[in-house]
Amino acid sequence: MFTRTDSCNALIVGASQGIGLGFVKKLLQLQGITKVYATYRQKNSAAELIMLSHAYPDKLTCLAMDITDEAQIAEGVQFLREEIDKIHLVVNCVGLLHQGTLQPEKSLKQINSENLLHYFQVNSIGAVLLAKHLLPLFRHSDRSIYASISAKVGSIGDNQLGGWYGYRASKAALNMLMRNVAIEYGRTSPKTIVVTLHPGTTDTRLSEPFQKNVPPEKLFSVERTVNQLLAVMEKLQIEDSGQFFSWDGSRLPW
Ligand SMILES: NC(=O)c1ccc[n+]([C@@H]2O[C@H](COP(=O)([O-])OP(=O)(O)OC[C@H]3O[C@@H](n4cnc5c(N)ncnc54)[C@H](OP(=O)(O)O)[C@@H]3O)[C@@H](O)[C@H]2O)c1
Repeated sequence: MFTRTDSCNALIVGASQGIGLGFVKKLLQLQGITKVYATYRQKNSAAELIMLSHAYPDKLTCLAMDITDEAQIAEGVQFLREEIDKIHLVVNCVGLLHQGTLQPEKSLKQINSENLLHYFQVNSIGAVLLAKHLLPLFRHSDRSIYASISAKVGSIGDNQLGGWYGYRASKAALNMLMRNVAIEYGRTSPKTIVVTLHPGTTDTRLSEPFQKNVPPEKLFSVERTVNQLLAVMEKLQIEDSGQFFSWDGSRLPW
């Protein structure tokens, strides 16, 4: 779909760094992608992305968007609708595991309702707000994909270790919200495939404090993760909408 000579428009949400920035770099090299829109939350962590937009002024456009603020999502999507009439690929790469004093909980003693709410706002609610506002751009007759990067630790069935209450629960909620979106899009935008994807442990700011027990062969570079996830997305069929896939294309338990 994206590697051939189609003319697809793509939106990468949360592209300031990590996996999102990796997607932007890859899509800029693909002939099948005509336009790449990429969002960042704050300029100070998005220097490389902004430099790329100067290097590829015709292909890459950056937009500011904090996905905890619905007005910013609405404004960003409105900007897209003035530029293009259809979108083919949206990858929501936004995610939060730690930030300053907010650290994943090791035990109930560390549970704090403000932090829990923040995990849900960033990791779950933003994705469904995006689905709400992006619907008009998905409603066309070409195949399209709305993928959100989830995490295997958000699988309830797979949880044997506990801990990371807010992150795990917010990713489980993301999976449920996207399952619901898949069902509703199935009626309102039937050519759109809605999935959540586990990228595998990837060498980014998010995983950095937790990498020491990860064997080197299980710690993927951003480039590898992006290639693997694109390969999974290339193969998706409409029947796959509403599912949760791992980086190798296998289905993960809810
Ligand atoms: N790395 C891994 O091993 C791993 C494993 C499983 C799942 N994941 C998931 O993969 C996705 C990408 O993570 P990553 O590893 O690339 O981490 P990352 O390098 O920390 O990137 C996270 C991205 O999310 C953005 N973001 C955070 N809060 C936001 C908000 N309120 N509004 C808009 N953007 C916001 C960040 O922007 P700022 O620069 O402005 O903060 C950044 O662009 C996440 O969903 C993560 O949960 C990662």
